[in-house]
Amino acid sequence: MTNLDLERMVDTSDEWIVARTGIRERRLATSNDTTVSMAATASRKALAIAGVDPMEIDLLILATDTPDKLMPASSSVLQAELGAMRAGAFDLDAACSGFVYALSVGTQFIRSGVYETVLVVGADSLTRYIDFTDRGTCILFGDGAGAVVLQASDADEGVLSTVLGSDGRGAQHLYVDGIRPTDVPNGNGHGATVPVPTMKMNGTEVFKFAVKVMGEAAVEAIDQAGLSVADIDLFIPHQANMRIIDASARRLELSRDKVFINIERYGNTSAASIPMCIAEAADCGRLQPGMNVVLVAFGAGLSWAANVVRWGSTGTRRRGE
Ligand code: ACO
Repeated sequence: MTNLDLERMVDTSDEWIVARTGIRERRLATSNDTTVSMAATASRKALAIAGVDPMEIDLLILATDTPDKLMPASSSVLQAELGAMRAGAFDLDAACSGFVYALSVGTQFIRSGVYETVLVVGADSLTRYIDFTDRGTCILFGDGAGAVVLQASDADEGVLSTVLGSDGRGAQHLYVDGIRPTDVPNGNGHGATVPVPTMKMNGTEVFKFAVKVMGEAAVEAIDQAGLSVADIDLFIPHQANMRIIDASARRLELSRDKVFINIERYGNTSAASIPMCIAEAADCGRLQPGMNVVLVAFGAGLSWAANVVRWGSTGTRRRGE
């Protein structure tokens, strides 16, 4: 969906959207797509690149705030879809911060020696919860999925530091209501037809919060890794708004060539945004063994998360190799 398509739907313009967000187009899940189907496509590609059989996976973590059903967890459906029948599986919801949270959790299972191989997926179909008459939100979001395979290694690489944050006092600034049986007249949900809830956002408050926490969390993660900003080779921020990305890069005094940006083609894909960036950066050779990479995200909660990752040698394999 391009900005031109949106111009036909709400009172907006390509010029406004590009200037205020950096977004030119976004991808929307079709009626044939689900969060799990997109997650499965990304997972199969990641497993093929890593040369890992689904039966080698010990644990599968799916970061999503748009599971296909309330129950069972979408991660269980994904596990069956992939044939990862040895794996434990659970969903993790930290909204747009979800992938970095999930990467941090998966890493701890490996570092503690409990598991050897963990599949971490970020997948969201948030546009299903967007009101396409609300110009404040409908221009921002897209759907997508990305995945990484984590494996135990003796090398000095992988996730070097972790910062996780939450401030639930800001929950009202960004939310999608759930449908609860108690919300409908007879109190038990039987026979009720209720509209699908849509996202409500106070864009200005979320913007101010994001600019503050993205820079702070990145600096904290770099410190915790015992590195300085000069040691950072690539900065991969959550792709929510170009102005938020620019502000956090300025806070770190990083030049644009060290910042990975693909927001113009996808918009904000929530938990999928960072793994989609990782996949594209690996594909185009911008991730090389030994590189120090900062991942930083923020989202509903309000929440935030950052990792410093030293890119490993197997991660540089290109698709098809
Ligand atoms: N087209 C044209 N005009 C618009 C549009 C639009 N799509 N949207 C808002 N406007 C108007 C407003 O109505 C307002 O008009 P007014 O001055 O006459 O009242 C004017 O533009 C300025 O509006 P602001 O809201 O102040 O615009 P701002 O520069 O803050 O940009 C935006 C709005 C893009 C939403 C910005 O606040 C933002 O990106 N916030 C962060 C949102 C975000 O990242 N959310 C995702 C979090 S991650 C997750 O967990 C899902």
